[in-house]
Amino acid sequence: MIVAIDGPAASGKSTTAKKVAEALGFAYLDTGAMYRAVTLAILKKNIDMNDPVALKMLLDSMDLNVSTKNGDTVVTLNGINVSDHIRSVEVTQHVSAVSAIPVVRESMVKIQRDIGHRSDCVCEGRDIGTVVFSDAEYKFFIIAERETRAKRRQLDLRNMGEERSVEELVSDLKIRDQKDSTRKHSPLTRAADAVEVDTTHMTLDEQVMYIVSKVKKVK
Ligand code: DC
Repeated sequence: MIVAIDGPAASGKSTTAKKVAEALGFAYLDTGAMYRAVTLAILKKNIDMNDPVALKMLLDSMDLNVSTKNGDTVVTLNGINVSDHIRSVEVTQHVSAVSAIPVVRESMVKIQRDIGHRSDCVCEGRDIGTVVFSDAEYKFFIIAERETRAKRRQLDLRNMGEERSVEELVSDLKIRDQKDSTRKHSPLTRAADAVEVDTTHMTLDEQVMYIVSKVKKVK
């Protein structure tokens, strides 16, 4: 069974999805982490994003692994743990461009479907309900006002030792929202059958309870 959770950057969907998976006893898949890992690999190897052949070679030779440990996403790239590295400012700045490349999406979607078919899974991203698992049993689309999202992102970054102003983060999010929702391939959009959850005025526990109760009610 698949629970698909999509939504814009910093909408709170990762934290929510993680907790929903825990409450339901399902696996959790953070697909954004996979696009971040590919972005890191491209930056490290200095690969030209406009060269599909070089990109395909990288994707085919890359050993990318995503798992969860104590509820947190662990990403290894060619055997090296890059879980922190993929959240860096540099990766964040380039990931929208990388995730818009068709050859990258094809490769990631294939891996995501393989993982999702292994066990019951809460799968989180931008195109889970529309493309990756368009037949998912449960679909949620999480939104929140941009300023709220910027404040949440500010707290996350602060916990990682980075200080950014809310204004700066609002402007970053505006750019990412624009890129993620207007790209040609699998743009961020709500699936027609997804339940929209506006978390602007909700606590984390309320978001989790809301989704878990919806799934349990139908189950
Ligand atoms: O959720 P996140 O911020 O870690 O995602 C990083 C980027 O990856 C985001 O800019 C959009 C992209 N992404 C995507 O295109 N498709 C997904 N299923 C997940 C993320």
